[in-house]
Formats: sequence, structure tokens, C-alpha cells
Amino acid sequence: MSATSTTDTTRAREAMVDAIVADHTRLGQRSLSWAVEQALRTVPRHTFLPGLPSAEAYDHEQAVVTKEENGLALSSVSAPSIIATMLHRADLHPGQRVLEIGSGGYNAALIRELVGPTGQVTSIDIDPDVIARAAQCLADAAVESVHLAVADGEHGFAVRAPFDRIIVTVGAWDLSPAWDAQLAPDGRLVVPMRVRGLTRCLTLERTAAYGHWRALAVDPCGFVRMQGAGEHWEPMPLLHEPDGAQVGLRLEDGPRPDIDALCTALNTDLAEAWSGVTVGAEEATDGLDLFLASAADGWALLTAQRGAIQAGLIRPIVLTGTPALVDTAGASFAYRILRRIPGQERWEFGAVGQGPHATRVAQQLTDLISRWDGDHRGGPGPHIELFPASTPAADLPPGRVVTKRHTHTVLNWDR
Ligand SMILES: C[S@@+](CC[C@H](N)C(=O)[O-])C[C@H]1O[C@@H](n2cnc3c(N)ncnc32)[C@H](O)[C@@H]1O
Repeated sequence: MSATSTTDTTRAREAMVDAIVADHTRLGQRSLSWAVEQALRTVPRHTFLPGLPSAEAYDHEQAVVTKEENGLALSSVSAPSIIATMLHRADLHPGQRVLEIGSGGYNAALIRELVGPTGQVTSIDIDPDVIARAAQCLADAAVESVHLAVADGEHGFAVRAPFDRIIVTVGAWDLSPAWDAQLAPDGRLVVPMRVRGLTRCLTLERTAAYGHWRALAVDPCGFVRMQGAGEHWEPMPLLHEPDGAQVGLRLEDGPRPDIDALCTALNTDLAEAWSGVTVGAEEATDGLDLFLASAADGWALLTAQRGAIQAGLIRPIVLTGTPALVDTAGASFAYRILRRIPGQERWEFGAVGQGPHATRVAQQLTDLISRWDGDHRGGPGPHIELFPASTPAADLPPGRVVTKRHTHTVLNWDR
């Protein structure tokens, strides 16, 4: 590598870390730990993304897809900003034993820095191509002593257990019992988990009670889906089917609404409601989304392809999933929209309702948005606990209960 390009990559890396540190400071409650900052300044990220211009390799918010199939990303080297947050949350110390589920090489190299020569790093991936790629990149970066293996992370990696930390870097739907079994008693688990369709990175520790976890932190994130034994696809019936103009509803498991009635609703009885609640361009809305997901019985995410918006079938929304409410009794639904406040860089939240009870359901959605604004905006967010699926409903604390194969997740906003 020439002297100039070494200087380029060093500068790009410093700028990347400065941007991450600034973001953490701006977000207030979580200044990035010094150890994570130093690791980010040390590990040459571009070595894990050969051929990519350094501006892209060191873009602090950019994940780089390294494998996809039929337009679906299967593997990526995660964005530095979420990697930094997860390592910060993991609170790694020299000498610890760490399992990383989902490889790429870069994060494993950072973990190696953080646990030092007396620590132990195991990184597993379900895909042999990913492990081969990670091995090559780690060798190119002269990072030694990362134990790489092809394995399904749903089963953990028993032969190297116990672990002080398990860091899952792939989107999980549920908590695997193997992670519980292989984590040291005072261990910490960092896992991106879908909660009612929304992916949040949960930093979990056990309490004294058997199989009971509480979230120390809840961070917004996006990850490729877990494959293998832990793979799960939430039902997503289509309300409009033509390719390129599809409209779907991503639902939590459970009783299905009458999809034929909602298909009819998509084409009839439009109503609008406005909340008076506004948001700035730079403001995050992940807290609102999680509140709506917790508070609304009929919660769903409305998805759309561009053609549906171009055809005027629905208003512009987040194509991959916009908060929506299904009024099962009324065969109607509503979804969240935004309108610009004239002359300002602010937008007001509203709702479009469709179906025979369009007005009612749109109003319900804007009422919930107002409730979030009045009671929870800027607050600590929900208290999240996980219990084994065998826990009787009567023994669960109050809150929204989301039941999965292995666990009940309980979200409680009244804390
Ligand atoms: C976002 S990438 C990991 C990024 C990586 N940690 C890095 O250093 O940037 C997610 C990886 O998880 C892997 N994966 C998916 N399902 C898995 C499973 N059940 N067990 C282990 N790995 C899995 C994918 O093959 C993919 O390579």
C-alpha cells in the first residue's frame, strides 16, 4: 500500500470514529466508552472490505452487503455506528470469553482488541462462504487468535462455552435457550430482536429468577434475518398483489384479521386525521414506533412497493414498514402519514384510515400518537423483560405481552 493511501485510510478512520463519538455525545445518555473508541481507531476496517473506496469503507452509518440472493441481503459487514453501540453495550473487558454469532471479520477483530491476549474470541456463521471470507480478511489484517467456525448460532457453540458475553449480529426473532445455557451466570447478551416486527438491539442481563432477563438498553437497529433453526417470518398477507405495486401488512403471529375485508378497505372510504404532534428532520421516531407497537392491539406494519404509491393507492410511507392499526371488528385499517409544516423543517404526524370505519381507526391512531407525545416523548422508553414461554400468564407482570416459541417478552411503559 502506498504512503498516500495509508494516510487516506488513517484519515478516513479517524473521521469515522469522530463521527461516531459525536453521535453518541449528541444522543446524551451513552458517551462511547474509551476502550471501544480506541479499538475503532486501531482496526483497519478497509481490510475487511477489499476493493471498496475508503470513503465508503469508513462511512460510519453504512453497512456493506457482501452476499445476497434474489434481492435479499444474506450477509453484510455491519455499519460502524451500530457495531460501536453494541460493543459499548456489551461492556467488554480484557480476559473475557466472547461468542459472536454472525461473522464478517471486522467486529471479531474489534472484540479481539477489547478482550486482549488473555481473552478468547469465537465467531460463528451459518454460511461457510462468510467464514472463508472472514478468515481471509482477518489474516490480511494480521489479526490472530479468532476462533472461526461454521455453525448455526441458534445452538450457540457449546464446545467453547461458557461465555462472558454473547453478541448476536444477526436479526433474531426469539431468545435461544442455548444462549441462556452457554452464558456465564453474570454474563451479558446483546441481541437484535424483532419485537412486534420492529428490530431493537436488546442488552440483556439475567435476574436471580430462572430464565428471567431484563433489558438494560434498547437501541434501534437493522440486521439481516437469522437463517437456520431460529429463522422466523412473520405473516405478511398482501392487500394488493400486482408485482411492483404490492401492498402488504406485516402482522405479529396470532389471530389473523379478515384479509379480504381489508383488501376491500384499501380501495374504499378514505379518512384523514391529524395529531398536532410534530417531528424535526433529524429526530428519531423509534420510540414512537415502539410505543404504538406496545399500545395498539391491532398493531401491524404496512409495507408497499413503489408502484402502489405511484398509482396513488396509498400515500408515501416507509416502504419496508410503516406503523398501522387494524380495526378487526370494523374491517378497516389506518396507517401513519406525515405532512410538512409550511415554512419549517418539521412534519406533523397524521393517519389515513380506510374501510367502513376509516374515521374511527384513523382517530385511534392519532390519539395514540398524542398519548406518546404527552406521556413518553423524551422519556426512558419501555421497561422490557423476558420470561420463559412456560411462565403462566398470571405470573407475568403488567404490560404488552409478546409470546414466542421460547419466551414471553413484556413491554411496560409505566415506570
Ligand atoms: C450482519 S452479518 C454479521 C456482521 C459481522 N458481525 C461484522 O463483523 O460486520 C450477519 C451474518 O449472520 C449470519 N447468520 C444468519 N443466520 C445465522 C445463524 N443462524 N447462525 C450463525 N450465523 C447466521 C449470516 O450468514 C451473516 O453473515
